[in-house]
Amino acid sequence: MENITGMKRTKYCGDFRAEHIGEAATVCGWVQRMRNLGGLIFIDLRDRSGIVQCTFDEAENAELFKKAFTVRSEFVLSVRGTVRSRGEGAITDRIPTGAVEILAEDMRILSKAQTPPFEIVEDSDVNDVLRLKYRYLDLRRPDMQRKIALRHRITKIARDYYDENGFYEIETPILTKSTPEGARDYLVPSRVHPGKFYALPQSPQQYKQLLMLAGFDRYMQIARCFRDEDLRADRQPEFTQIDLEMSFADVDDVISVNEGFVATLWEKILGKKISLPLPRMTYAEAMERFGSDKPDTRFGFELQDISDIAKTCEFKVFSGAVEAGGSVRMIKVDGGAKFARKEIDGLAEWVKTYRAKGLAWLKLADDGTMSSSFAKFLTEDEVKAIIDRADAKNGDVIFVVADGNDEIVKAALGALRCECAKRLDVIDPDRFDIFWIVEFPLFEYDEEEDRYVAKHHPFTAPMDEDVDTMMTNPAAARAKAYDLVINGNEAGGGSIRIHSSDLQEKMFEALGFSKEAANDRFGHMIEAFSYGAPPHGGLAFGLDRLVMLLAGTDSIRDVIAFPKVQNASEIMMASPDFVEDIQLTDLHIAVTGSEE
Ligand code: AMO
Ligand code: AMP
Repeated sequence: MENITGMKRTKYCGDFRAEHIGEAATVCGWVQRMRNLGGLIFIDLRDRSGIVQCTFDEAENAELFKKAFTVRSEFVLSVRGTVRSRGEGAITDRIPTGAVEILAEDMRILSKAQTPPFEIVEDSDVNDVLRLKYRYLDLRRPDMQRKIALRHRITKIARDYYDENGFYEIETPILTKSTPEGARDYLVPSRVHPGKFYALPQSPQQYKQLLMLAGFDRYMQIARCFRDEDLRADRQPEFTQIDLEMSFADVDDVISVNEGFVATLWEKILGKKISLPLPRMTYAEAMERFGSDKPDTRFGFELQDISDIAKTCEFKVFSGAVEAGGSVRMIKVDGGAKFARKEIDGLAEWVKTYRAKGLAWLKLADDGTMSSSFAKFLTEDEVKAIIDRADAKNGDVIFVVADGNDEIVKAALGALRCECAKRLDVIDPDRFDIFWIVEFPLFEYDEEEDRYVAKHHPFTAPMDEDVDTMMTNPAAARAKAYDLVINGNEAGGGSIRIHSSDLQEKMFEALGFSKEAANDRFGHMIEAFSYGAPPHGGLAFGLDRLVMLLAGTDSIRDVIAFPKVQNASEIMMASPDFVEDIQLTDLHIAVTGSEE
């Protein structure tokens, strides 16, 4: 193989323009394709910036022409030559360098390549497993290069923005102790302390609060977080937060500095002006109108309560739900009458994953004829009352869910409205709906554990109005917690923290921790707070989700260089993997089960 000495790049491939005509140039990169036109060979050379055409003319240099003939796709070359205008008719605006080419005077083959398992082109529809097995090839594709470069830009803007606003970037440990974010921990066995384990951080939550107690006033970190939970399109077992915390701050202070960051990002990346302050919606309103704490407000189909109509009707599914203390709610889907019966049956199955027991529907066809799964059980007046409340017109469909548990009704319809919007393709992809959800509940009831647990985490402060009643009426207590929602995604979340030991103790008590249990798990925090704690609060953005949204993709996998797949494995390296017995022995570990 040849070396690069004396053949170093003078410019990236994608940077050549008409103004460079006549210049000497050397480019380095991968062969996108080679075309032999007899007497002329064109090699498209690609690097991270784009593609430039290198031309080999047999009449000018027969020896070099012969060498160019041996080149194949994905060979790595260095080509030296002179920039010249492309011939009349060969100029193209298909690529930014389309006006010019480099007439080759020398070329080195720096590396040969076998035929790749898939072609390295933009937006190819290669299956995901193959893409991830050969991720380094997948990443060569221009669209992937752009996404990873975008990610770099975003973290750079974040660091600059928070620096300008007085935040210090401070690293916190990766080998640490279990933090109560609610997901399962990834554990690392200790060799030195037999039987003991570190936990990888689910977030730097406790450390960043301790940094506030340490007097740093404003902290930020591009922080890797680890959570052993089920994967989805917007969830990875390891992901990255733009994490921050600030002292002497209340809700408005945290929201203000962070929405400033969001506006800066949208301006710098997309050239879009976001008007500040961002709107705020209470959690209660979001659940009532959209059945979700991260509502996508780019379309309607809002939830409507029809419990009052359903309460007295003869249809037991409806009236029974209200009697049982639940509710009957509906959404009206404009244009949804085009869902065929089979598709509606499919949706009725689909909502069962949200624990709905069924899906009742009423369709007004374009010609005004009504069909329904439940109208026959209701009086004409009741049906009319429902249609009127929905404000349904010809071409619409109404979906109804009834359940003894109102949470299930809301969650099922909340998910269904998004699914319908997707299927009917009614979402404007260029629109960004960005706002805060505020006044989250302080607690949520955990059915499995039969007790209240912290909705956010146990250091989250209750709203001042609810401090006195949080013990007697935990279900109604609200927190100084906020989430940033962008187009139906939870892009970030945080809270003001409890900074008084008394209130923290009360909180642990409400969560059912005995004094001993609280001390055992959080003793270091309780003690730390006894030495003078500033009021403080913060937030963490999901960096992967921000990049995903700004890149216009629908999976965070697209914006992570080496992501994991559904079953939390990484198929290129094949992790996780078995280890040597001696490693296990050193770690005092006996394995009791293993996969094939
Ligand atoms: P939270 O748990 O809400 O808060 O996380 C903050 C943000 O991180 C993103 N996120 C994820 N992204 C990808 N994959 C995951 N598995 C994943 N889990 C969460 C979301 C979310 O909004 N310590 C607190 C923050 C604070 O109170 O300051 C915390 O971690 O976008
Ligand atoms: P059935 O009497 O079982 O034929 O039900 C009539 C309609 O009510 C069907 O469309 C069912 O899918 C629907 N249905 C059943 N249970 C529920 C429920 N909990 N909420 C809404 N619709 C339901």
